[in-house]
Amino acid sequence: MVKPDGVQRGLVGKIVQRIEEKGFKIVAMKMTRMPVEKAREHYAEHVGKKFYQDLVDFITSGPSVSMVVEGRGAISAMRKMNGATNPAEAASGTIRGDMGIETGRNVVHGSDSPASAAREIALHFAESEILNYQRIDEAWLYE
Ligand code: RTP
Ligand code: MG
Repeated sequence: MVKPDGVQRGLVGKIVQRIEEKGFKIVAMKMTRMPVEKAREHYAEHVGKKFYQDLVDFITSGPSVSMVVEGRGAISAMRKMNGATNPAEAASGTIRGDMGIETGRNVVHGSDSPASAAREIALHFAESEILNYQRIDEAWLYE
């Protein structure tokens, strides 16, 4: 997900480009302003933490762009491409390392496990919004 700061700062195109260039397949994508109820559910694992309310306020503050990204090793690779949670500690070459400054404005979100990906995809997308198609370069991406 490109968070509201990424949308406001005009970074959606650059972030999508990194995903496409890596070779991963975007099988669903949409811009929404996340409703508060959905945000609470999305960040349920952080209920009770001191940053929880700020996080819900921030993620619902404006449009964000959600994607379903498919490919071998996509979950861990997307986490690596996003970089460390705190952009100040994120390596150069990562989205957060290159495009962010503070933890509370770290530009992107990525699911952290197959279980959370399944949960988050179901929360943000209807099954009919997830497309089944082949990229013509697949034979050149996978042995
Ligand atoms: P994300 O879920 O957004 O992909 O980020 P993450 O796994 O790297 O980090 P996580 O621990 O899941 O935290 C979710 C988001 O909460 C905000 N946060 N603020 N002030 C703080 O100490 C703090 N810690 C986390 C960040 O926006 C983080 O991405
Ligand atoms: Mg997380």
